[in-house]
Amino acid sequence: MNVSPLKVDVHSHLVPAIDDGIQSIEQGLEILAEMEALGYEKVITTPHTFPGSFDNTPEIILEGLEKMKAATQEAGINITMEAATEYYMDDVFLKMLEDDEPLMTFGNNYVLFETGFMSPPPFMKEAIFLMNIKGYKPVYAHPERYEYLIQDKQLLEEMIDRDVVFQMNLGSLAGAYGKPVQKFAEKLIDQKVVRLVGTDCHHIGHIDALKKTIQSKYFQKLMQLELLNNTL
Ligand SMILES: [Fe+2]
Repeated sequence: MNVSPLKVDVHSHLVPAIDDGIQSIEQGLEILAEMEALGYEKVITTPHTFPGSFDNTPEIILEGLEKMKAATQEAGINITMEAATEYYMDDVFLKMLEDDEPLMTFGNNYVLFETGFMSPPPFMKEAIFLMNIKGYKPVYAHPERYEYLIQDKQLLEEMIDRDVVFQMNLGSLAGAYGKPVQKFAEKLIDQKVVRLVGTDCHHIGHIDALKKTIQSKYFQKLMQLELLNNTL
């Protein structure tokens, strides 16, 4: 089984014990070995930056990344690792933007952000606007998982029009987040608005979901889209 033609993953929680992802190096190595076997060559891991829950900084994330990279090499796993973060879009994030605090990015200035599942922050459009004028490219983590977006066609159109990069979670196609999320993910593929895909891997269970996704009909449709993954 192979995830081909995909080579690069852009969303995961593979820095030990700094968020709700892997809690040990061993757990990370088990996942990375599976990912290598599935054909991945590069993993851009994105631990949460979520004030009050996961108070991460670039320093904490990069220090953890170095440990994980060293262990990966030692274990003979042939995967390149980089790190960015998944920002929770709250008022702290908005203030960082307003204060011109540098954000953690990947690739060509991409910034991964998520919102609450039931409702977006009232300033979501403003924050996206600020990211754009400051030269960042906003990446919307797992849009298919937001209850509010499933319900709001107009907001969906606006997000597409504002050139927000849609990053779908691969496990969504295997029903890992429930049937409505799977259906919405399929709809976004049919609309050809998915530009990036990620495992959002927190634990080995997400690799099982990934294997199911690879065998799904929509995975083939997804691979026909012009994804940005392999350019990173
Ligand atoms: Fe995530």
